[in-house]
Amino acid sequence: MSGITDEDLLGKAWEARKAARCGYSGFAVGAALEAADGRVFSGCNVESSSYGLSCCAERVALFKALSEGAAEFTRIAVVTDAPQVCPPCGACRQLLADYAPHVRVLMANARERLDLPFAELFPYGFDQQFLVRP
Ligand code: THU
Repeated sequence: MSGITDEDLLGKAWEARKAARCGYSGFAVGAALEAADGRVFSGCNVESSSYGLSCCAERVALFKALSEGAAEFTRIAVVTDAPQVCPPCGACRQLLADYAPHVRVLMANARERLDLPFAELFPYGFDQQFLVRP
């Protein structure tokens, strides 16, 4: 654990959000993923003119972390200025289930915060255990 507070992790997500490349949706998202070794990897959403190639802030943070060798994760903060706090999308939940299934998910906008264990956001998800064949 890095020892940083939830507030600090959310702050890193807000900072990351400033770099969002969201010219198509106008919906800026920031994320900050804490690794068990204390490192924090931030991400923002990056959109493409070929819309389907866009990548969410959570996956950008996760891919940065995995590509830097981080393997265990403790918390992820996700922030937007939407009226309701924004949970990770289905694709991001799948990747979090694969690589960061034990995180706490801190979601926030300017007014509210929601803090849930990842398992509550993604019950009975597909993962590598189902790939085992007889
Ligand atoms: N987006 C994220 O970055 N994270 C989420 O949790 C939900 C959606 C991005 C994808 C796209 O760039 C924009 O928000 C609108 O869907």
